Amino acid sequence: MQSTPNIEQFIPDSLTKLAYQGFQESKKAFGFLHKQVSDRLTHAVIPEQKSKSQPLSPEVLKKLQTKLKKLEEKDWQDAQRGVYPSSLLFDNPWSDFFRYYPEVWLDLLNIWERVQQKDYQKFDAAIDKSGYPDYYLQNFHYQTDGYLSDMSANLYDLQVEILFNGAADAMRRRILAPLKQGLETFTHLAPQQLKVLDVACGTGRTLRMIRGALPKVSLFGTDLSPAYLRKANQLLSEIPAELPQLLQANAEELPYLDNYFHGLSSVFLFHELPATARQQVINEAFRVLQPGGIFVICDSMQAIDSPDFQTMMNNFPAIFHEPYYRNYTTDNLEERLSAAGFTNIQVENHFVSKYWTAYKPAV
Ligand SMILES: C[S@@+](CC[C@H](N)C(=O)[O-])C[C@H]1O[C@@H](n2cnc3c(N)ncnc32)[C@H](O)[C@@H]1O
Repeated sequence: MQSTPNIEQFIPDSLTKLAYQGFQESKKAFGFLHKQVSDRLTHAVIPEQKSKSQPLSPEVLKKLQTKLKKLEEKDWQDAQRGVYPSSLLFDNPWSDFFRYYPEVWLDLLNIWERVQQKDYQKFDAAIDKSGYPDYYLQNFHYQTDGYLSDMSANLYDLQVEILFNGAADAMRRRILAPLKQGLETFTHLAPQQLKVLDVACGTGRTLRMIRGALPKVSLFGTDLSPAYLRKANQLLSEIPAELPQLLQANAEELPYLDNYFHGLSSVFLFHELPATARQQVINEAFRVLQPGGIFVICDSMQAIDSPDFQTMMNNFPAIFHEPYYRNYTTDNLEERLSAAGFTNIQVENHFVSKYWTAYKPAV
């Protein structure tokens, strides 16, 4: 059978790279502008908010820009060497952007109300809060209804892209090379037999990317939020490939048999967990992984990684509601991974994020 020619084959790399750089630049400019305007409005309405954060020095801002450029170059290079198709570099939830961007502004009014009342555990009366751990019932990032409403799920990806100046997906994609490499342990199996779980999959952005990099593996996703899982189901069903199996579950008690998965990922979860839950999630990851299996974590950079960015790390929980972030920034996840039994633990940083790769020892 003749394979269908891919449009990417006809576009010179130099042009694709220019398009990617332009795309990233426009997301950066958009995020920057959005934050400038929303911060000014917030400071006009709640002047105390301004004193909660410290300005970043020009040197730090320059270092941030350099790190962002390096991240984008790495993203481009990984696509070039075939870790994932270059089309993934341009994957963006456009229809949601146009549909929900006005809501992001409207929601600012609710955020101001919660900030003024200092009430960060506020949920709509119709939301059933039973069965969730207490630490989860928070308006993380001041989100209306925390993670427990459809509107929160509709706005989430947009808010994260704005927060990271358009770099959120490029940071998520950094899990793909180590994950793919780790799965090479199982080359004796057909790709369809490989099982990969994304823990706390949220709206499914990471699963979408894993599907791009590993089109045939069986994908699974769990999250505590039914609303985010509904959104993930909607976004993942846009891809003409097998739908990942999504399940509502606490990452501390994964509803799977021991030694079930070949690979596990978790993106931007650990900073939203108290320390004991972090350890429990790591223990569960170890339990459900097969011997030889790989676990890749992506989350925020930590204090130890770069003293230059300490002001930024102090600002984040002060201007967003992130009750466990400060503790996270000084937590030693390598020690936690070792305590659970993981070996061959490797750590790397990209832009403002950090990655841990760890293996369950083969028997
Ligand atoms: C910051 S979001 C990250 C979502 C997604 N991984 C991403 O890359 O955007 C944190 C996610 O973790 C989920 N979450 C938080 N605590 C959890 C827990 N104990 N068990 C399962 N999911 C949890 C939330 O519902 C939310 O979807």
